[in-house]
Amino acid sequence: MASFSPSGRMTRTAASSLAARVVLALLLLIGVSGSGATQAASPHTHHSRQLDVNHKKPVQTFRPINIAHRGSNGELPEETAAAYLRAIEEGADFIETDVLASKDGHLVCFHDVTLDATTDVADHAEFAGRKRTYEVQGEDVTGWFIVDFTLEELRSLRVKQRFSFRDQRYNGKYQIITFEEYILIALYADRTVGIYPEIKNPVFINQHVKWSDGKRFEDKFVETLLRYGYGGEYMSDGWLRQPLFIQSFAPTSLIYVSNMTDSPKLLLIDDTTVPTQDTNQSYHEITSDAYLAFIGSYVVGIGPWKDTLVPPDPTDNRLGRPADLVARAHALRLQVHPYTFRNENQYLHFDFRQDPYAEYAYWLDEVAVDGLFTDFTGSLHKYQEWTRPYRKEQEKTSPEALLREIAGMLKNDGYD
Ligand SMILES: *[C@@H]1O[C@H](CO)[C@@H](O)[C@H](O)[C@H]1NC(C)=O
Ligand SMILES: *[C@@H]1O[C@H](CO)[C@@H](O)[C@H](O)[C@H]1NC(C)=O
Repeated sequence: MASFSPSGRMTRTAASSLAARVVLALLLLIGVSGSGATQAASPHTHHSRQLDVNHKKPVQTFRPINIAHRGSNGELPEETAAAYLRAIEEGADFIETDVLASKDGHLVCFHDVTLDATTDVADHAEFAGRKRTYEVQGEDVTGWFIVDFTLEELRSLRVKQRFSFRDQRYNGKYQIITFEEYILIALYADRTVGIYPEIKNPVFINQHVKWSDGKRFEDKFVETLLRYGYGGEYMSDGWLRQPLFIQSFAPTSLIYVSNMTDSPKLLLIDDTTVPTQDTNQSYHEITSDAYLAFIGSYVVGIGPWKDTLVPPDPTDNRLGRPADLVARAHALRLQVHPYTFRNENQYLHFDFRQDPYAEYAYWLDEVAVDGLFTDFTGSLHKYQEWTRPYRKEQEKTSPEALLREIAGMLKNDGYD
């Protein structure tokens, strides 16, 4: 038997215990999702699921929200069950995902339209002939496209870390998960965890994937959310029970789904040079006061890239003057959730002295945003617990809250 260095041995142990927990969670999910699909239509079982979530620690809403970008992808391969479970364990308020569709119309959690960067597809000889070139948002892209693979084929792949400077030791362990599995991970967490799914590349998906019932990608996306009981405006009872933000870079998709669901939506905003993928509008157009006021009747906020809110100087990597977009959005009562916060040195601007906590302090206290997409949920959670801890009285499980609940039940039973 080969000998391992102490650190190698620790890693193996950590990996196998994490793998064991993921397997357990997935077994639970398989058991649940099998019956979940048939139960979904029944209002009775739907009601009992809601009763369960009522007794959980609620999602915090008193401080900016911690959005686990693609799960805890700073540590584990992105958008996998393991990355989401890890993010929940680390204190995420919301777990974030990108929804795309397989060739046979299943909604899956995956970021890129090609499988190349974050799976082992290149090692699968059976898929060697599956490489294609398609136009994506006006540019030719070559690779293995997710829309050319059935769900079963996608399941045969294993996900890997996107960035070479991150831990590669969890590559090859985890599968691509479906949108429904992602939802179940949130619903069956031991506290209320929100979901934050993106309608990803809707123009491309609607071009390449056809559903037999003539529905479009956005219909399938919303139907899935409704089937699992999601609905209700921001901060309504329904929303607090199952918190959800729907996000997209495509304004037409957000407007289209607004007729099907009252759940809160956010318009994502790309770099200043990138036009919108559906309406071909410039950055300056969609961040004008007039456009923000228009889209504000459909969305509760915007999700801009952080370097457009506070542009850094490319020559010395120091922060420049903040743009006025945050103030203008707030004046229209729109939330601002910038992306993406990353701990690594190469992402930290010079002002932050290579300290990710200094970056969080700046964005939370000075720019005063309402939520942050982070690759390192654990770091943001620690920072917020140090500076603005979770208020105990918010916990529905406090003795006072439980007594109130018991009193309410007795009253309902006739013991007034
Ligand atoms: C939404 O519904 C209204 C009223 O039924 C209709 O007038 C409108 O065109 C619909 N919008 C979209 C984007 O489907
Ligand atoms: C998008 O807008 C730009 C600038 O207005 C224009 O040059 C380009 O042709 C447009 N692209 C499409 C696909 O309409």
